[in-house]
Amino acid sequence: MFSKVVFLLPSFLCVVAGSLLRSTPDISADTATSITAGVAANVATSDVLHLRSLDSRAVAPTLNFDDSTWIWTGETTAHLGVRPFRKRIPSSSTKCPVCATIILSSDDLYSLNVNGVEIGTGEGWRNTVVYTVGLNPESDNEFAIAVNNTVGAAGPLIATILVDYKDGTTETVVTDTTWKTLQTVPPTGWTSPSFDDSEWLAAVKVLPGTQTPWGTPFVLPPAINMTDAYWIWTNETDAKGQDPVGHRAFRDTITSPYGKAAVCGKVVIGADNNYTLFVNGDSVGVGGNWHAMEAYSIPNLDPDVNVFAVDGENDAPVSPAAIIAGILIAYNDGSSETFYTDDTWKTIIGLPGGFQEPSFDDSAWSDASEYGTFLNAHWKNVTIPLA
Ligand SMILES: *[C@@H]1O[C@H](CO)[C@@H](O)[C@H](O)[C@H]1NC(C)=O
Ligand SMILES: *[C@@H]1O[C@H](CO)[C@@H](O)[C@H](O)[C@H]1NC(C)=O
Ligand SMILES: *[C@@H]1O[C@H](CO)[C@@H](O)[C@H](O)[C@H]1NC(C)=O
Ligand SMILES: *[C@@H]1O[C@H](CO)[C@@H](O)[C@H](O)[C@H]1NC(C)=O
Ligand SMILES: *[C@@H]1O[C@H](CO)[C@@H](O)[C@H](O)[C@H]1NC(C)=O
Repeated sequence: MFSKVVFLLPSFLCVVAGSLLRSTPDISADTATSITAGVAANVATSDVLHLRSLDSRAVAPTLNFDDSTWIWTGETTAHLGVRPFRKRIPSSSTKCPVCATIILSSDDLYSLNVNGVEIGTGEGWRNTVVYTVGLNPESDNEFAIAVNNTVGAAGPLIATILVDYKDGTTETVVTDTTWKTLQTVPPTGWTSPSFDDSEWLAAVKVLPGTQTPWGTPFVLPPAINMTDAYWIWTNETDAKGQDPVGHRAFRDTITSPYGKAAVCGKVVIGADNNYTLFVNGDSVGVGGNWHAMEAYSIPNLDPDVNVFAVDGENDAPVSPAAIIAGILIAYNDGSSETFYTDDTWKTIIGLPGGFQEPSFDDSAWSDASEYGTFLNAHWKNVTIPLA
């Protein structure tokens, strides 16, 4: 993980020019948990010009449950039905949370709510799931997880939440005894950030996160489900599946749906042979091992339009060439959407100057050609990074 932090607007850190994030500095209590990455740096002029790239983390960290704890309500007798768990992630005048990635597992069913919006539901028993969600930088953010015990002994719940702050730092929040719970079904309105849980109980430790109630280790989820992604390239691939050596440019422009603002995202990408990934004109990362895709966190997307561009290179003669990518975009209403490389991407032979810039006109470029999905392409034995 390579993280850079730039304090451009020290007294109004939550302000993002021209975006939905308006300035209302909130002087709430500072968060106590430890910051895992990020070192303050002075701002060089060239950095100011590339503000957005400095907010992109080169390689998304892999989340696990090693420092988390399985928690429950403290009830010792078996009970079916729902129990609530709440955890507040504070905002302050100097720490503006923009995005969170959460992995969780539960016995049995879960419902994940962030700031009163249901983000996802599912079966948490023996399953680990991942969600990426845009946060509110100007106010406290409330994570509220309902766990429904449908059979057998009740509970527990485990989660790890990676929070991205506006300044490029991250923080890892884990399930522990600071989470609030009840030994009853939750009252109406309990997922709302304004709900008062001060009378709730502290959650109780059940098992360390290095163990599971089912005995076998966790199977952690991929950063992005790549099943629906296509390997793409120009239409130059010949009947033997071979491509000329050289660079090819690719672009995908993603416009936020009406009424939604993009907040943050993830990219999983691979290439045969090499890629350079650009987001909104800024270089985010390079790679060149087609057996192993790589993952990137993009904590600071444009609310309205985001341009993903790739310089793909075939560096070996008499060989196939392709890129593959999945792009997750989290919106300000709690929803998220995943986009994949396919024939809606634009491509051209060579690398026109400025091809990666959002303002570049790619309307004369060709549609990319598809060379099979992740599961049924020429490229086998390709690993996807974990969430
Ligand atoms: C809990 O799960 C059971 C079994 O699937 C279901 O009947 C019940 O409606 C669920 N409770 C809630 C509050 O979702
Ligand atoms: C991944 O996506 C495929 C295709 O949309 C779907 O069938 C599969 O269930 C997904 N896998 C997971 C673990 O969500
Ligand atoms: C480009 O790909 C080749 C072949 O996979 C690899 O040997 C080389 O290291 C890659 N270059 C970069 C910059 O990743
Ligand atoms: C490949 O794409 C180019 C540019 O769009 C087009 O001129 C050419 O006809 C295409 N070739 C084939 C074989 O489809
Ligand atoms: C899969 O690729 C790895 C290198 O990334 C290699 O060590 C392994 O032998 C390959 N497995 C198969 C079945 O090809």
